[in-house]
Amino acid sequence: MNDLEFRRRIIDWYHADGRDLPWRHTNDPYCIWVSEIMLQQTQVDTVKPYYLRFIVQLPTISDLACANDDQIFKLWEGLGYYRRVRHMKEAAIQIMTEYDGVFPDRYEDMIKLKGIGPYTAAAIASIAFGHPKGVIDGNTLRILSRIYALSDNIALTRTKKAFQQRMDALIAPLPDLGPVYNDPSAFNQAMMDLGATICTPRQPICSSCPVQLLCAARQMGREGVLPVNIKDSTKSDIYYITAILRRGDRYFMVKNKKEGLLHDLYGFVQYEVESPIRFEETFYDDYGLNIRLEQYVKEVKHVFSHRIWHMNVYMGVILDETEEHLYTPEEILSLPVSTAHQKVARAGEEYR
Ligand code: ADE
Repeated sequence: MNDLEFRRRIIDWYHADGRDLPWRHTNDPYCIWVSEIMLQQTQVDTVKPYYLRFIVQLPTISDLACANDDQIFKLWEGLGYYRRVRHMKEAAIQIMTEYDGVFPDRYEDMIKLKGIGPYTAAAIASIAFGHPKGVIDGNTLRILSRIYALSDNIALTRTKKAFQQRMDALIAPLPDLGPVYNDPSAFNQAMMDLGATICTPRQPICSSCPVQLLCAARQMGREGVLPVNIKDSTKSDIYYITAILRRGDRYFMVKNKKEGLLHDLYGFVQYEVESPIRFEETFYDDYGLNIRLEQYVKEVKHVFSHRIWHMNVYMGVILDETEEHLYTPEEILSLPVSTAHQKVARAGEEYR
């Protein structure tokens, strides 16, 4: 693979055929930030109108920091994952107090802000500030696997680190190339567009690809089997926070809708989160109800054939009015409850 040629071709292609998106008409870090947060879990076409409305109603960091929750949730209504906007408001307040209202331009400072991880920080650093930091996500991992014909398992942290170095090398400053080809914003967004429109997971459209002649996988006819993405099968321990949530004399139970062993069985709500506060936030995002976890009970273990659940059981209360998902202890006796969650229920009874 000829790195320089790749860089030239993909940037040329981006300028000719890249998508015209509303957040590509600015390099205001605030606007880029809003767009990247919206794009984290939502499709480009869905994001467009939300982005435009958000920027009109809250045009600056200070407006967001001062906005009331009703307004920000209204602006987010329909996008889902509401914790994204709650975190944005917290980060906006943080920027007002710690950075005088000016969006920090260092990657290291950005990732300290609520809701900004490595991908989003790299996107903002490159798009708004022109820093040569490559974005690593499913799209870019797939493209790199293919152009270099690398069989490294992209599910591994080790591979992601090595690919980050390749991405950074591909956009490293090379003054001799001139400004057009020293444009980390164009490079990263070209990779995003290539991954979204041409170098797709299944049946990539290689005949339309601007870098098909450079692509090692294409030359070997291996584009169909790359990237290698094998989830770690030895990782059998899963750590949950599992909550026995009460409202009055009834308990909150949900039916498992995922296919598999526990399909259609009832259980308490559990999330792979690291703290009770995270649990409360995630629960709010899923059910729109405020809850409070009040008491840690114990860890309940349940061993399946290929995994072990470590359920850290908490007792909690539902603070908002609701009628859904609530069952009396008598009703629960007649529900099909998974064995794992029967153990959780017993741990709760012993505790009381
Ligand atoms: N997905 C995440 N960031 C994006 C961007 N800046 N443009 C298009 N799609 C994206």
